Amino acid sequence: MTHQTVYVVDFGGQYTQLIVRRVREMGVYSEMIPWTTAAEKIQNSKPSAVILSGGPKSVLEEGAPTIDFSVLEGIPVLGICYGQQLMAHRLGGKVEKVANKEYGHRTLVPTDSDSGTLVASLADHQVWMSHGDQVLSAPAGFVVTASTDTCPIAAFEDRAHHRFGVQFHPEVTHTPDGKTILKRFLFDHAKLRADWTSESFIDEQVELIRSVVGEGKVLCAVSGGVDSSVMAALLIKAIGERAVCVFVDHGLLRKGEADQVKDTFIGHFHANLKVFDARDQFFSALAGVSEPERKRKIIGENFVKVFEEHATELQECDFLAQGTLYPDVIESGSPTAAKIKTHHNVGGLPEWMKMKLIEPLRWLFKDEVRNVGRRLGLPEDMVDREPFPGPGLAVRIIGEVTPERVRMTQEADWIFRSELRALGLNKGIWQSYAGLLDVKTVGVMGDERTYEQPVVLRAVESEDAMTARAVNIPFEVLEKIASKIVNEVHGVNRVFYDLTSKPPATIELE
Ligand code: XMP
Repeated sequence: MTHQTVYVVDFGGQYTQLIVRRVREMGVYSEMIPWTTAAEKIQNSKPSAVILSGGPKSVLEEGAPTIDFSVLEGIPVLGICYGQQLMAHRLGGKVEKVANKEYGHRTLVPTDSDSGTLVASLADHQVWMSHGDQVLSAPAGFVVTASTDTCPIAAFEDRAHHRFGVQFHPEVTHTPDGKTILKRFLFDHAKLRADWTSESFIDEQVELIRSVVGEGKVLCAVSGGVDSSVMAALLIKAIGERAVCVFVDHGLLRKGEADQVKDTFIGHFHANLKVFDARDQFFSALAGVSEPERKRKIIGENFVKVFEEHATELQECDFLAQGTLYPDVIESGSPTAAKIKTHHNVGGLPEWMKMKLIEPLRWLFKDEVRNVGRRLGLPEDMVDREPFPGPGLAVRIIGEVTPERVRMTQEADWIFRSELRALGLNKGIWQSYAGLLDVKTVGVMGDERTYEQPVVLRAVESEDAMTARAVNIPFEVLEKIASKIVNEVHGVNRVFYDLTSKPPATIELE
């Protein structure tokens, strides 16, 4: 990569990824590196600036995480929370334990009259604190630039050596003017350029893909989701027809999505898209199956089967594109949490599909992927799409998955999400969908008794899908949607709204 890079050294802080994101939002490329990264590696890669993250440990503890400051000589450094304490501790200052851990808002008071400090003339002096230790005395050469009523050294700096430290968290939104502080560090002091944009990413990747792939072909499975669509669009831009795009239509996508994939990739991008219509195959494999994990397994196996059936036309590919994103890259290697459900789209791949992997999105966060998608000309509703599970509607339909039950779910889901969109209520929703329950209830319509199935609506807010909360949709809106669904979707006579958080529930029904 040719652009400047800011390393964020991770000391285990809960906001470390957020620091990386903030820096990138300002147009500067940033990467997270563990504090255990070898000193020579940092030295050899010559970062343009380094930010030391927060962390749960105390620098006063034996064996606390640290970094070799000699390799940072000449590189602008900003220490945040634990990072600031580490600077103090390692550069000749003093750190002490505070009597009570400090957590919450504080008012920052500048203590230095110099107008060039990181914290001078902020528009808002609220800052977010979350710490158990604090700096008692700054190292020689450092000037204390701000304090709070409980923290005498809330910010310090040694501008001659481009070293800065803040006890609070400028990266969180609870510090309203935190971006100003980060900007001043990056642009005024580290003198960086804002050269990380969707356009520059696309240009770099196109070049990289061409040089790696040469005259080869890349197999690129398209699911209709954001990541695979953006990945395919990028590969098509780089190598045209040699990006062999494959769309397995299992019949379990939301209403209209399968057609949109075909229209976008064939109609708009003139892609080499192979559509394998496997609807009958998936529906017969799923006939009579209700158990959630069996459904997942069958879907995984049938994906593989479809690829096997088309082995001869796909075997000519030299590479397999994978939509790995930056959070997966960061998190790979972390101990896996207890298995709640098998999350997979494709089970064990056949031997011949174990091609060389390319992962063109591995440097991006999800919002960056969306921006790249927009730049590449993907339709807005494809780029903005909510996360959707690999096994599709099968995990939103309790009980047997039949074409008729899929139709009912698709219709109800379309009404629910269209109404939310029309009212602008979809903003801030992580996922929203209609699912189908496996019971029948009695109703009355036009003087006739009905005995039909209920639909359940689910809409959740979430940061990362690990936890989630039901969205507070106004009652009148839910009432209108319920009435529309019951009136328009044949076979549905009742609508429920799911109020459960995750945990104890999960986002999907199965
Ligand atoms: P749960 O239901 O476990 O979902 O709260 C968390 C997130 O994962 C998605 N999800 C899946 N994605 N294959 C996938 O690719 C799966 O089998 C699967 N199950 C759940 C879900 O949509 C949510 O975003």
